[in-house]
Amino acid sequence: MILVTGGAGFIGGNFVLQWFAGEHNEPLVNVDKLTYAGNLDTLSSISERDDYFFEKVDIADEAEIKRIIAQYQPRAIVHFAAESHVDRSITDPGAFVRTNVVGTFNLLEQARHYWNDLPEPQKSEFRFLHVSTDEVYGTLETNDPAFCETTPYQPNSPYSASKAGSDMLVRAYYHTYGFPVVTTNCSNNYGPYQFPEKLIPVVILNALAGKPLPIYGNGQNIRDWLYVGDHCAAIRLALANGRLGETYVVGGINEKTNMEVVHSICTILDEVRPRDAGSYAEQITFVKDRPGHDARYAINPEKIQTELGFKPAHTFETGLRETVLWYLNNNEWITRVQTGEYTQWVDQHYAQARGV
Ligand code: NAD
Ligand code: TYD
Repeated sequence: MILVTGGAGFIGGNFVLQWFAGEHNEPLVNVDKLTYAGNLDTLSSISERDDYFFEKVDIADEAEIKRIIAQYQPRAIVHFAAESHVDRSITDPGAFVRTNVVGTFNLLEQARHYWNDLPEPQKSEFRFLHVSTDEVYGTLETNDPAFCETTPYQPNSPYSASKAGSDMLVRAYYHTYGFPVVTTNCSNNYGPYQFPEKLIPVVILNALAGKPLPIYGNGQNIRDWLYVGDHCAAIRLALANGRLGETYVVGGINEKTNMEVVHSICTILDEVRPRDAGSYAEQITFVKDRPGHDARYAINPEKIQTELGFKPAHTFETGLRETVLWYLNNNEWITRVQTGEYTQWVDQHYAQARGV
């Protein structure tokens, strides 16, 4: 049994689907608070399996996390749950500290007590895989070398600062208690089931709706992009073979300016769903920049490549095309997200459970 947190979110959801698409049949319990970013529709294809379990719980809830770990007795925890959107962290940083810092602390603490009491060989085999971001390293100038595992932490947004805090706690649990952790710091992900607040789904869906494609500032900020399925594969490698106490940076060696990304999306859409006249690129609109907007992220993935044999299966071109086609072909998921219907099952289900 493995325990996944945040498995109803974008990357966690892809990870759970990939887990059950594999040949092994190890059970999985998904612990997710179902914030606005948690969407059980993503998991509808596997939710009836008898080796899949779901717990709607906040990772900061001490008693509930203790109960869940004791009940399911996981051999590993893969920790995705987080507040993840930089723009939201600027308007509501408190939620980021509560979940990313306090929540991760609680999860570590409950897991450590559980692990402490495990008999061998379960104790030696136990793993806590912490999923983090490259944003903890701050921002790069054009000619700076890419981030690697020894790059100093210089987080610039409340989001990246809260993730940096969680990384530090994870590190400390290894050094202080010998708690068996592995951390991954990945670059920007894209792919199916991403909530339409992040750049790529915003642009695809606004383009199709005839709305402006909002580019912050001058559009020259650079991100490294990795297809979500490749990130999930990297996490599985790190879970299986990552060295204890180590961090692995993960990336696609796909540095693109935001303008390049948006133009690539427009080009694919012009081909597969042409407008009546002109290109989707005509909808590009420059808007006010994000405060503290990091200029560039880049990853040197040498360590995970050489130690764990990581190799992305997608290029940016193949991954982006798949992603655009996914958004074109999954109207129901999109409509239910856009109308907020995806939350209704949760509201009804838990109202019934409370006897309301
Ligand atoms: P997401 O916002 O799509 O999903 C987060 C999930 O966590 C949601 O299902 C949400 O309901 C759940 N959650 C939030 N607070 C919770 C709480 N207190 N208790 C339990 N569950 C809670 O995020 P994502 O994009 O899937 O990112 C997942 C992880 O990967 C995060 O830790 C993020 O920092 C990291 N990461 C993301 C990216 C990216 O590009 N999206 C890149 C690198 C690393
Ligand atoms: P985002 O998807 O929010 O990821 P992150 O901030 O974690 O990198 O943004 C990716 C880049 O796109 C970032 O430089 C901000 C920019 N951006 C826009 O230009 N317009 C938008 O509407 C959004 C959401 C992001």
